[in-house]
Amino acid sequence: MKFKKNILCIGAGYVGGPTMSVIALKCPEYKINVVDINKNRIKEWNSDNLPVFEPGLMEVVKKVRGKNLFFSDDIKNGIKKADIIFVSVNTPTKTFGEGAGMASDLQYWEKTAHEIIKYSERNKIIVEKSTLPVRTAQALERILKSNRKKIKFEVISNPEFLSEGSAIKDLLEPDRILIGSHQTEEGIKSAQEIIDIYTHWIPREKIISTNLWSSELSKLVANAFLAQRISSINSISALCEKTDADITEISYAVGKDSRIGPKFLNAGVGFGGSCFKKDILNLVYIARSYGLEEVADYWEMIVKINQYQERRFVHRIVKEMFNTISEKKIAIFGFAFKANTGDTRESPAIYITKKLLEERAFVSIYDPKAIDNAKIDLKGIDSNVKYEIDPYKAAKNSNAIAILTEWEEFKKLNFKRIYSSMKKPAFIFDGRNILNHKNLYKIGFNVYPLGKTALTHFK
Ligand code: UDX
Ligand code: ADP
Repeated sequence: MKFKKNILCIGAGYVGGPTMSVIALKCPEYKINVVDINKNRIKEWNSDNLPVFEPGLMEVVKKVRGKNLFFSDDIKNGIKKADIIFVSVNTPTKTFGEGAGMASDLQYWEKTAHEIIKYSERNKIIVEKSTLPVRTAQALERILKSNRKKIKFEVISNPEFLSEGSAIKDLLEPDRILIGSHQTEEGIKSAQEIIDIYTHWIPREKIISTNLWSSELSKLVANAFLAQRISSINSISALCEKTDADITEISYAVGKDSRIGPKFLNAGVGFGGSCFKKDILNLVYIARSYGLEEVADYWEMIVKINQYQERRFVHRIVKEMFNTISEKKIAIFGFAFKANTGDTRESPAIYITKKLLEERAFVSIYDPKAIDNAKIDLKGIDSNVKYEIDPYKAAKNSNAIAILTEWEEFKKLNFKRIYSSMKKPAFIFDGRNILNHKNLYKIGFNVYPLGKTALTHFK
């Protein structure tokens, strides 16, 4: 079959894989190639065991793989044949040199740009899909324009707003699609080609066109605003624990104001994931680099409150368990940074587990999807850790349970059975406020919800 257009995606990760699968599903006349330097990842994308767990993803992949969606490690040919190249390689926080711990590490990006120059034989549209610091496109353009082949590359920014665990739904029914381009004739024409992809299934009025820099910065700002809401409510959860106010009631009451809205107001052990912390630190770094100290300080507090929330959670466990957890067994329910994903990047569970181990506790971890990643995260420090595939086994003989991820299945566990298998007094620290605290208390647990009064049997 002759395809109308050849689309390439460089980077087969959490963003590239699901996004291209949905584009392939909705645009059968386009051929979509997804390439990655990681051969193993490509092998997994071509198997029944996809490297990314997302509800509904396998069904989409099965419909299009081998028809108009292809996963390969042949980057050279992929680039050569492509009309449009989406780039979704990773942009982690720099770990070395200037801007370490704050700025984005753009080495993978730069390598990709050089590969694009090396293998291209004709003009192409390059689409930034990964989240990038504002004005990255300028650097990218400078690299791309350095080619001596007289090939023209038009750079478009099209940030991805999908959220892990609901990626397919987010891709099928996004709130908006953002497309940034130079406001030149060529820029607007190229942006239109990207708009044409999305109008296959998304109403035109949901597609926003902006200049390139607004598009890049909007993505950072959107993530910073979402994280800001979480840090705001988490900071108030600390005050609730001191005053007998109830954080769930506060979230509800505050979120009912239509100017505020109810979403992203769930207090918890802190936000994790590959984006929030990285993007805010990046925003802070950029603001500081322009001498905007107040702006930088303002956004940096969002990350500091998040760290405070993680610290506070561990502190409460130790304090309430009579100031020592040494040689006590703590069962951790949930290691993923949120429910419905196996991803543990920046998961609060990593920090919390490490701190519990420093306090010399024995830790058993149960998570329905994230155990393999937990093993990687705790490698070298896990001699006192047991990874369990059965929550009842994880809880057996433990002194306390800590809920760190809001998995639905935790609500359905038989807590009577769990209680009877635990050491007494039995503690439960619900870091996500997902359980029925009154019931747990009736069973016999000493219950410590987050941002609420504790329910204990101690006199
Ligand atoms: C986020 C953005 O939502 C998405 O638009 C962007 O493209 C990538 O970053 P993601 O990190 O996948 O998506 O998950 P998200 O649902 O935003 O949750 C991030 C973290 O915040 C999780 O650890 C979650 O548990 C936490 N969270 C979320 C809360 O603690 N409380 C809330 O009310 C909502
Ligand atoms: P994200 O969450 O942004 O999708 P991931 O880390 O899941 O980030 O995915 C990024 C992918 O990009 C990884 O699979 C990585 O191997 C791939 N990658 C990084 N650099 C290159 C490159 N130069 N060429 C091709 N793929 C790359």
